[in-house]
Amino acid sequence: MKIIIVKDYEKVSDKAFEIMKEVVSGNPEAVLGLATGTTPLGLYARMIADHEENGTSYARVKAANLDEYAGVGKDNPNSYAYFMRKNLFDKIDIKLENTHIENGMALNADAECKRYAELLANMPRDIQVLGIGSNGHIAFNEPGTPFDSVTHTVELAESTVRDNARLFDRIEDVPRKAFTMGLSEIMQAKKILILATGANKADAVYGMIRGEVTEQLPASILRKHPDCVLICDEAAGSRLKN
Ligand code: F6R
Repeated sequence: MKIIIVKDYEKVSDKAFEIMKEVVSGNPEAVLGLATGTTPLGLYARMIADHEENGTSYARVKAANLDEYAGVGKDNPNSYAYFMRKNLFDKIDIKLENTHIENGMALNADAECKRYAELLANMPRDIQVLGIGSNGHIAFNEPGTPFDSVTHTVELAESTVRDNARLFDRIEDVPRKAFTMGLSEIMQAKKILILATGANKADAVYGMIRGEVTEQLPASILRKHPDCVLICDEAAGSRLKN
């Protein structure tokens, strides 16, 4: 894994954008694997600014997101579908019909997982953007998820519910179940960009890079990927320096 440590969140976003821009400029039909959460917001802001200022077009780009809360509809402001429209898709020229995410309201969860897994198999990602959970999760693949997993539903770890509570009025409102892309599907992307910022990610980043490659720390699977780049700020990378 290539490791880039830069000063702060803004520099992480700059570097991530540089790599994203290279992919999209090199291939106007690129397929992007995208993440929600706080970490990629700076990257998305730069993609929007670049679209507005330089006309970089996403008209033929396709996107597939990692995960979605179960029981939360796409027009609910807490859904990841809504997050993506608000923070990226509505502000660039990507066609909404070319953007994909699990349907949190699917009545038959197994059928929805199968549908999404088939879709992913037919749209290999050129680049996959990832954040990392403080417990080492990627997407909602919590510790213990098999490395060969495909799209599935998951009971969120207690620590993930606590981490995500900041985005809800009350912790009781945080959904406990989600749909997630599996680890084997994440690994299929041609290039992976994992971003980590803030001191609360330092242990997970250290474990991912210096610990064992183990299902107990899902992000450690990325060490087996031929083209994965970690971009982190000094706080998240602090334990790597010793
Ligand atoms: C989001 C996702 C999660 C987040 C992770 C970090 O689609 O799959 O794995 O990337 O929980 O979240 P933030 O960026 O909010 O710290």
